[in-house]
Amino acid sequence: MLMLHTARLVLRDLVESDWTLVNALSQERTVTQYQTWLRLHSPAEALQWVRNGMEHNALHPRQAYNLALVHQNQAIGWLGWGRPTDGTQGDYDFGDALLPSMWRHGFMSEALQGALSYMFQSLKARQVFGECASMNIASARVMEKVGMTLSATWIEHDDTTGEAEEHRRYAIDVKAWQDANKIMRTG
Ligand SMILES: CC(C)(COP(=O)(O)OP(=O)(O)OC[C@H]1O[C@@H](n2cnc3c(N)ncnc32)[C@H](O)[C@@H]1OP(=O)(O)O)[C@@H](O)C(=O)NCCC(=O)NCCS
Repeated sequence: MLMLHTARLVLRDLVESDWTLVNALSQERTVTQYQTWLRLHSPAEALQWVRNGMEHNALHPRQAYNLALVHQNQAIGWLGWGRPTDGTQGDYDFGDALLPSMWRHGFMSEALQGALSYMFQSLKARQVFGECASMNIASARVMEKVGMTLSATWIEHDDTTGEAEEHRRYAIDVKAWQDANKIMRTG
C-alpha cells in the first residue's frame, strides 16, 4: 500500500472503509458543486466509487493514485492523480476534495505538496497539471501555494445548468518544482 507522510497527514491508498468519507463528501453541496463525479446518491454508490478507485490503484503498470488524506487517524479527504487522456499538458493531473469542516487549515496544500514530491521524485514526472473553475478560489489558491502557475483559461458549459463558466489550468514542471524547493530549503 502506498503511504506518504507530510507534517500533519498520512496519504494512503483507499481502503473499503473509506466509503464513509466518500459518502460524507458526496452529501456536501459545496464539494459536489466542483467535484461532479462525487454526486453519489447512496452509501452503496459511495462503496462502489471506492472499489473502483481501489481497482484502478491495483492495475499494473500503475497509472492511477486514489489516496485518502488521514489526519489524527480520521480520513478527511481524497486526493487522486493519474495519467491524463491527453498527455500533452503533463504526465499527471489530479483532483481533490476535503470535508468542509477541515477547510482553510492548509491541509490540501500540504497534501498536494507531498503528492507532487512523489510524482516528481518517485514517478519521474516531467510536468503535472490541475484544472478548476475560475470561481473555485480555494482550489486555484491551493495550486498557486504549491508553486503551480496559470497556463490556460477557457469556457465550459455546466453539466446541469448549461451555464458558461470559465475554467483554468495550472501546471508545474520538474525544473520549477526543484527550484521552488531549493528556495524553500534555503529560506
Ligand atoms: C479546494 C479544497 C480541497 C481546498 O482545501 P483546503 O485544505 O481548505 O485548502 P488550503 O487551506 O490548503 O488552502 C486554501 C487557500 O484558499 C484560500 N481560500 C479559500 N476560500 C477562499 C475564498 N472564498 N476567498 C479567498 N481565498 C480563499 C484560503 O485562504 C487558502 O489560502 P491561504 O493559505 O493563502 O490563506 C477544498 O476547498 C475543497 O474540498 N473544495 C471542494 C472540492 C473542490 O473544489 N476540489 C477541487 C476541484 S477542481
